[in-house]
Amino acid sequence: MPYTDTSLKLDDIPVGKSRCLEFDDLQVGLFRNADGFFAVANTCPHRGGPLDQGMVSEGVVSCPWHQWQFQLGDGVCRSNPAIRIPTYAVEVRDGAIWIDLGKPPEKKA
Ligand code: FES
Repeated sequence: MPYTDTSLKLDDIPVGKSRCLEFDDLQVGLFRNADGFFAVANTCPHRGGPLDQGMVSEGVVSCPWHQWQFQLGDGVCRSNPAIRIPTYAVEVRDGAIWIDLGKPPEKKA
């Protein structure tokens, strides 16, 4: 799937902040931390909490409703590794943020 322009620029999401983006019926949580941008499905698989409103620490977001934790890099749930939320590749092109809704991010070595 080709990358989709989020219409956001780098400065729209400072380090430590997040946004919920909507693409048709899909909500994507876009997070920025010191390691870059991360995009995950925004709806918590437990009971639908909005992950973009959760606290992030060391690359892990805690759902604001019942504190399930998800790794932003690969979507794995810390309390139950059998659960994994979708993750999406993010690219910055000329200061604009693009997301590939059909492709997970590449693993960093
Ligand atoms: S809705 Fe996210 S932990 Fe319950």
